[in-house]
Parts: sequence; structure tokens; C-alpha cells
Amino acid sequence: MDNIAKISEIPNFGKKVVTVSDREILLINVKGTIYAVENECPHQGSPLNAAIVKDSYISCPRHGYRFNLVDGMCTEHPECILATFPVKLSGDDVSVDLG
Ligand code: FES
Repeated sequence: MDNIAKISEIPNFGKKVVTVSDREILLINVKGTIYAVENECPHQGSPLNAAIVKDSYISCPRHGYRFNLVDGMCTEHPECILATFPVKLSGDDVSVDLG
């Protein structure tokens, strides 16, 4: 697991983009739960840092595909799966397993 951010850097309902090994990872804070996803939509590659987050879903700003933050699935377009990564919190540290 790579320690890539501090929880205090990600406001509630806010996001933070971190570059790890040339990959952009988007961290999202939903009421204290931190999610980590690829900052690139699997549909046509739009960055997701401007996406709308509601509950445990993120909606791409380009065509509105909606992805589950836990497993990356898109119910309306199951062929598009957003890469998600396991997150571990320790104190204020956020670690992500990029596989
Ligand atoms: S690029 Fe994200 S829905 Fe099309």
C-alpha cells in the first residue's frame, strides 16, 4: 500500500487528485469514507475530478455515466467499469493499494 495523502487534505464531499507512478488517482471523501478511483472515465477518458458525487456514486461530467465508488460498476453501461482501489486509513494517513 502506498501512503499518498492525508485525510485532512480531502474535505467532506470534496476530492483530491494525487499522481502515483504516472497514474492520476482521485480520492473522494463522503462523510469520512475515503474512496480511491482512477481519475479517468472508462467511457471516453474524461477526467473525473470535476464529477458530481452523490452518496456512493460519481457521475462523469461529460456524458453523465454514473459509477459506483465501491466497485466501479455502471448499471446503465455495464461495459464501462471505473478502476477502483482499496483504501486503508491510519490516523490521518490515506494509503491506497494500486495492485
Ligand atoms: S467520458 Fe465519461 S461518460 Fe463519457
